[in-house]
Amino acid sequence: MNIAANPVVEADQTVYLKDYQKPVFLVDSINLDIQVYAEHTQVDANLVMKRQTEGDLVLLGRDLELKSISLNGQVLNVSDYTLDSEQLVIHNAPNEVILETSVIIHPESNTQLEGLYQAASDLYVTQNEPEGFRKITFYPDRPDVLGVFTTRVEADKKYPVLLANGNLLETGLVGEDRHFAIWQDPTKKPSYLFACVIGDLAVLKDRYTTSEGRDVALEIYAEEKDIPKCHIAMEALKHSMRWDEEHYGRPYDLDNYMIVATSAFNMGAMENKGLNIFNTSCVLADEEYTTDAAIMRVQSVIAHEYFHNWTGNRITCRDWFQLCLKEGLTVFRDQSFSEDLQSAAVQRIDDVAVLKAHQFPEDSGPLSHPPRPDHFVEINNFYTATVYEKGAEINRMMATLLGKEKFRKGTDEYFRRHDGQAVTVEDWVAALTAGSGVDLSNFLTWYNQPGTPKLEATGEYDAVAQTYRLSFKQSLKAHAKYPNLKAVPIPVALALFNAETGEQYTLQSEALFENGVKDGVYLFDQEQASIVFTGVTAKPVVSLLRNFSAPVNLEFNYSDEELAFLLQYETNGFNQWQATQTLLERVLLNDHDAAIYVQAIKNTLPALVEKDPLLASRLFDVPSEGYLGSRIDENYNPAVIQEKRNALLNTLARELGQFCKETYLALDPDLQKDFSQAMGVRALKNIMLMMLARQGDVEAFDLAYSQYTNTRNMSERLGALRVLVWNDALQASVALEDFYARFKDEALSLDQWFTVQASHPNATVESIQTLINHPDYDLGVPNRIRAVSGGLNSNPVNTWSFGVEHFVDLAKYLDEKNPILGSRLLQVLSRWYTLAEPQRSDVLASLEALKPQVKSKNVVETLNSMLSI
Ligand code: TRP
Ligand code: ZN
Repeated sequence: MNIAANPVVEADQTVYLKDYQKPVFLVDSINLDIQVYAEHTQVDANLVMKRQTEGDLVLLGRDLELKSISLNGQVLNVSDYTLDSEQLVIHNAPNEVILETSVIIHPESNTQLEGLYQAASDLYVTQNEPEGFRKITFYPDRPDVLGVFTTRVEADKKYPVLLANGNLLETGLVGEDRHFAIWQDPTKKPSYLFACVIGDLAVLKDRYTTSEGRDVALEIYAEEKDIPKCHIAMEALKHSMRWDEEHYGRPYDLDNYMIVATSAFNMGAMENKGLNIFNTSCVLADEEYTTDAAIMRVQSVIAHEYFHNWTGNRITCRDWFQLCLKEGLTVFRDQSFSEDLQSAAVQRIDDVAVLKAHQFPEDSGPLSHPPRPDHFVEINNFYTATVYEKGAEINRMMATLLGKEKFRKGTDEYFRRHDGQAVTVEDWVAALTAGSGVDLSNFLTWYNQPGTPKLEATGEYDAVAQTYRLSFKQSLKAHAKYPNLKAVPIPVALALFNAETGEQYTLQSEALFENGVKDGVYLFDQEQASIVFTGVTAKPVVSLLRNFSAPVNLEFNYSDEELAFLLQYETNGFNQWQATQTLLERVLLNDHDAAIYVQAIKNTLPALVEKDPLLASRLFDVPSEGYLGSRIDENYNPAVIQEKRNALLNTLARELGQFCKETYLALDPDLQKDFSQAMGVRALKNIMLMMLARQGDVEAFDLAYSQYTNTRNMSERLGALRVLVWNDALQASVALEDFYARFKDEALSLDQWFTVQASHPNATVESIQTLINHPDYDLGVPNRIRAVSGGLNSNPVNTWSFGVEHFVDLAKYLDEKNPILGSRLLQVLSRWYTLAEPQRSDVLASLEALKPQVKSKNVVETLNSMLSI
């Protein structure tokens, strides 16, 4: 055999759910001693373990330099264990083990932002979910091994802050220049929830008294200059703590709750027990420096990580296939919290918009997987919109079906049964079923299969009998890896409106689900079925999937007039928005006449702007080019979509020009009664300003420049800057220079400066290169990379032309340096196969060319999936 001609076949690295086995040893307690030095860090660990089943003692470890190892007081010889790049295996270990190891690690050169890493010159932090702890010490690093952690952290005194999970037991000095702190977490936890922080940070303090009377010290750590930007997060934290007591009966369980902000972070935030670590973008919030959208995000992420204390930490996952158990439930909880915080309808609009713009495309392409996958190569690749957002929708469907009271009985039962355990999706559904008394077991199908179901519905009105029959059919696209697809239970929330009067019928049907809720919910759980309503005195217009009661693609043969009717007469803002979006998709993707839409918007918007500016800002929104593109499965030509969308916007600017100008001049965010209405007014004004510029109003740029200059609010400033920059206004460069001068030391604001320019509709290779060559561009800071590549990607015409090389180059560069991020950025190109030729072949060639150049499991798995279409 000619070896050189054959590529090395790597051992299959796929992990399967069906291969799950209980851990051989459990850990009672672990004592960690972490000594940080400039050039290395020493980690000494003492593990007290007990055998649970037959087998070898397996400790996972990666990039660890083993200095010493002893078992029950005896130093081990190299022949007593086998050590490779992933694990240390001790054969014939006794039933009770005390294992002591000492290793050297290098956080100062760890660019992967996983394990312990130096995040800034004066800060070290950890990120251990899902498998980072094995980069700190040898350990059974899996979520079903729960132990009590005691942590000693020692470092130079130039790092005054030394934190770990739990209670502070002791602090002291080591010689002249060094000090230490010892922390103990009384709650047993898996290693992915371990955290420690070593740094020079300032702190904002507050207190909270739980429903049980526990006095909790709250602390948010950040750079000194950022402390004033931590108040919104602190309020959100206290609010979340109260909300979880009131809505789920869950009080907090430790005497302190700490949050640490860092700008070197791959994701949003991490729920480490009692010591959350946050991306600065998800904790710092201040009108002057961050946008309204960012402020809303801070509040929801604070809530999300806090809610994990019960759904994730006290009850954790048995294995990583169950990731959506904690993420799907916690996202559902944070969405519900945010619905209470602002307008419930607008929150639902924003959440569904994210679901449809990210999860639906993911689930219809080569990266499609079930919310609970049954195999993976690299678990980091499965922190996806499907696991998080579709996972949340599954919980929402069950909650919708049960109604408030029964859902609460179900969650109570879950907490009662499983507190302190590492469990599965089956355990969750079984507890909900037992607590509520309603059998939900067929919802497991939703967790186990990929794809967005298609829901086809038809309606027939019988004027003589005064009945209305709705018939449903469901189907799923075939999937090579998941062949046995089954029908899923689909709760269809619906209403009937009298087409002549606009009034809502009181629903009469025996097939409606009894959940104590006024709205009708029909549980459609077969491949085909129908439901009949009686007492329907005139032809109805049906509103289906109200509040988006199920994550499906609905096909119903509405006339455009009926959709326009719903846009105007639906009583719930979410449903109005949904009708508007459906109508716009027809205009933009199926060449329907825009006139009906324009008339309905003209009829609806003026009153709505007065009554609810926040909702008005969403209703007046036109789907993005990216979203529209994701609805096309073949022969996709981004330039055509861009052209059609621009044509619609031009029509709107022309038809509503006068109204836009009057509204722009009349609205004042400072006169609104609360933050959310003021946010609505700012959003509306920015849309109106964009419309004025599009009309060619000679005053538009003067208005924009004066809005830019006369505000301290970031949403207003950025909205104006965007209009100037995107339209190449004369004032654009002065405003950009001013923005830079004001915010050059404010990383989150400066990210916006990069994004505004990268998202210019006529951005070019050169303009993007100028941004990348800027001294403030930094490939070590994920937020900065995303500021540019996210901006670029907001224009699909650019993504699919010069953007392809941009993303391929990033994936190549990050493959070793930060594979988690590299893999995520590459996913931007996952729908390459939908493009029309010759673009399709061009992108394919670029992806094929990348293949031999990447090594990480993260990027390789993503690339292989992308190419296996
Ligand atoms: N569990 C975290 C959350 O809920 C997210 C997370 C997973 C994460 N892996 C990460 C965060 C890696 C940072 C880095 O939201
Ligand atoms: Zn989470």
